[in-house]
Amino acid sequence: MAFQNQQATVYNDTVVRQFAIMTVVWGVVGMLVGVIVASQLAWPELNFGIPFLTYGRLRPLHTNAVIFAFGGSGLFATAYYIVQRTCQVRLFGDKLAAFTFWGWQLVILLAAISLPLGFTTGKEYAELEWPIDILITLVWVAFAVVFFGTIGTRKVKHIYVANWFLGAMIIAVALLHLVNSAAVPAGWMKSYSVYAGVQDAMIQWWYGHNAVGFFLTAGFLGMMYYFMPKAAGRPVYSYRLSIVHFWALIFTYMWAGPHHLHYTALPDWTQSVGMLFSLILLAPSWGGMINGIMTLSGAWHKLRDDPVLRFLIVSLSFYGMSTFEGPMMSIKTVNALSHYTDWTVGHVHSGALGWVGLVTMGSMYYLIPRLFGQKQMYSAKAVEVHFWMATIGIVLYIAAMWIAGVMQGLMWRSINADGTLTYTFVESVKASYPFYVIRVLGGLLYLGGMVVMLWNSLKTATNGRANDVSIPAVAAHA
Ligand code: HEM
Ligand code: HEM
Repeated sequence: MAFQNQQATVYNDTVVRQFAIMTVVWGVVGMLVGVIVASQLAWPELNFGIPFLTYGRLRPLHTNAVIFAFGGSGLFATAYYIVQRTCQVRLFGDKLAAFTFWGWQLVILLAAISLPLGFTTGKEYAELEWPIDILITLVWVAFAVVFFGTIGTRKVKHIYVANWFLGAMIIAVALLHLVNSAAVPAGWMKSYSVYAGVQDAMIQWWYGHNAVGFFLTAGFLGMMYYFMPKAAGRPVYSYRLSIVHFWALIFTYMWAGPHHLHYTALPDWTQSVGMLFSLILLAPSWGGMINGIMTLSGAWHKLRDDPVLRFLIVSLSFYGMSTFEGPMMSIKTVNALSHYTDWTVGHVHSGALGWVGLVTMGSMYYLIPRLFGQKQMYSAKAVEVHFWMATIGIVLYIAAMWIAGVMQGLMWRSINADGTLTYTFVESVKASYPFYVIRVLGGLLYLGGMVVMLWNSLKTATNGRANDVSIPAVAAHA
């Protein structure tokens, strides 16, 4: 990867800086709401009888904040940084790029107001009402123009693989959003989906699963393919494998959605197709994980004193774990046990905290000092502390959910000799209580690590501003 400049190009890093800082800010906010909803599951009275603070309203606020505000800002920041470096050209359309930043922040603000007020379409991960959906579409189209415009004006012939993943993310998310959010408005903040019944469910989970596949996976793989080789100081282990990985992953993901609808009114053969493609998905997922991990071969010693690499390598391990677990859970007989239980929530968070969270944090720790003209983060010790708080937090969270989930599944299906249920539902809730408390502890640790990161990032940024002159020069040669 020869990314050196021939002549001084001044990159547009203003928008990268803005998105990078907001990634950390929204991370703290989204995870704080996560800790609140986790606490409400252990101690339900924590909604204080106030409608805005009820679980049903705060839960979508958590998912939207962590996925679209934290994850989304991270994707914008890294996509803009990577595409400029790998194309050796300034970002296409400065004003349009600025519009994506302010537009995306407005979407987040509107979500933070409308969800607690109870406005929702009721479609998971697509809860926002139609006027906000239109704003999302405008911002996303602008994102596509900036990204592909930069690729179109590139000075390097080859399009580096990270851009393929990021580009696929942009195209697929546009398609998913447009199809799944199609609705008939019935007032300013009320609409009805154009689909009904089982078709609605199918479209929703085609969307939901591919939101995982393209938003939470392909985009972050783009991050991994840039920052892993950069941090390791070595080229990608197998460039050929990265291309095979790309095509196999994007082809397979599209068909796996029905595994969210096992044992429903969806035709049985459709469920089996979903299961089959989910099992196949193990191969490209592990291909990508192995390619990332092997990039470090010959440089393993760097793990000892490079915290950025540590975040990236552990994130890949969780990616491997959750993409092994997912195909297993898609097997109908396994899903008969796991569905509706906290096992699903454990799976979600091994992917979300372990993979999405850690790869974003690692990439931000690489980016933030460079964006503010610094050699490293303000406090290397704080990065180390963050790493351990996050890792221990994840382990507590997911181990508690696995145990609770399998226990719930087994309790619900247990029957006495006379055919009656052995346990009432309430007994399973009571048995889950200790694990909900452990999850709160894990969540607090993970959130605590993020607060440390916010402090460290602000310190790095303000220190950098003191010797601001160096920013354009650093931006040009980074
Ligand atoms: C401090 C960290 C976090 C805590 C304590 C936390 C807690 C929770 C809780 C309590 C739920 C509801 C579970 C239920 O309904 O039974 C939830 C759902 C969810 N969270 Fe988190 N979360 C955290 C971080 C994250 C992050 C960083 C992401 C994504 C990048 C994420 C993505 C999700 C998703 C997708 C769901 C919905 C799961 C489903 O429907 O099965 N969470 N979280
Ligand atoms: C090979 C890859 C994967 C496969 C085949 C897979 C499969 C599955 C299955 C079978 C479920 C349970 C569906 C149910 O019973 O309702 C599920 C849920 C989920 N998975 Fe995965 N998974 C994979 C990777 C991931 C990754 C890497 C993430 C996160 C970054 C993730 C996020 C989720 C979410 C958010 C849900 C919960 C959806 C909901 O009910 O709200 N998955 N996945």
